[in-house]
Amino acid sequence: MEPVTAFAPATVSNVGCGFDVLGFALHEPGDAVTAAFAGGAGVRIDDIVGDDGRLPRDARKNTAGVAAQTLLDAVGDRRGVALTIRKGLPLSSGLGGSAASAVAAAFAVNALVGAGASLETLMACAFEGERIGAGSAHGDNIAPAVYGGFVLVRVPNPPDVVRLPVPAGLTAVVVHPDLEIETARARALLGSEVPLGDAIRQWANLGALVDALHRGDFDLLARAIEDTIAEPRRAPLVPGLAAIKRAAIDAGALGSGLSGSGPSLFALCRGIETARRVARAMTAAIVEHIGGRAPDVYVSPIAPTGARILSPAGPKGPAVQV
Ligand code: HSE
Repeated sequence: MEPVTAFAPATVSNVGCGFDVLGFALHEPGDAVTAAFAGGAGVRIDDIVGDDGRLPRDARKNTAGVAAQTLLDAVGDRRGVALTIRKGLPLSSGLGGSAASAVAAAFAVNALVGAGASLETLMACAFEGERIGAGSAHGDNIAPAVYGGFVLVRVPNPPDVVRLPVPAGLTAVVVHPDLEIETARARALLGSEVPLGDAIRQWANLGALVDALHRGDFDLLARAIEDTIAEPRRAPLVPGLAAIKRAAIDAGALGSGLSGSGPSLFALCRGIETARRVARAMTAAIVEHIGGRAPDVYVSPIAPTGARILSPAGPKGPAVQV
């Protein structure tokens, strides 16, 4: 059996009012993992490209390594597997990088051993990979990386994932400034209690957002993209956050906020032209308030599919290279 390479995309989690439960997939960037049979038993990591040597090479401490081993255990396969991980996602960027590596590894190993595991099993294995490898797992990154589209995670493990409709024309902008924020640090700012008024507003917005997606009601969607719980407590981590969000809204975005725990920001827009204008406005605001190297910018419809096998090419067509 020749090696198998799988790709898993970047994801925007939280999406304003959906802290820890809502997320959507981007077309790019993403991480790719190649799995090959190796001597011995268990999983080893042969190489990691694109992390500047910062991620653990010990498979038992790496999100992809743990996800791969969990999948092998789940399907009762004791063959040895070697992984090569290509990081397309910047570390600590708020784009779901550890989830993407875990998901790509689960998909690659599943295809390599011919296990035919369900998406639920692949999500559960990736969740375990991120939980052990990264110290905490985020179903709102893993689920959209597995399923694609816009999803609500009712329960992450065992997965109970609600796939939401995406209205025609809904377009995502993601900008990644020259900053790093470790998720653990961003979560430490949250504390453990939420004032009742903030909780009421959050679940009212979340219900409204889900309804807006179903009915294609962009006005309601614009009113509902608000986070009363996590983002206000994390705002000090991103200089100029309010001004960057304001620039997005002034340029025509429906809503904007931190992508996951930041520092990346997302905006949702009606149509590609508005999205391009919003991307330019957010970029200018980031240059003004954060500086550093120019932000990475991604503008695209929400990706309808999540992780996929890149090679060997399947019956549906040629492999896509990353
Ligand atoms: N929902 C998680 C958080 C996502 O905001 O902490 C982390 O990527």
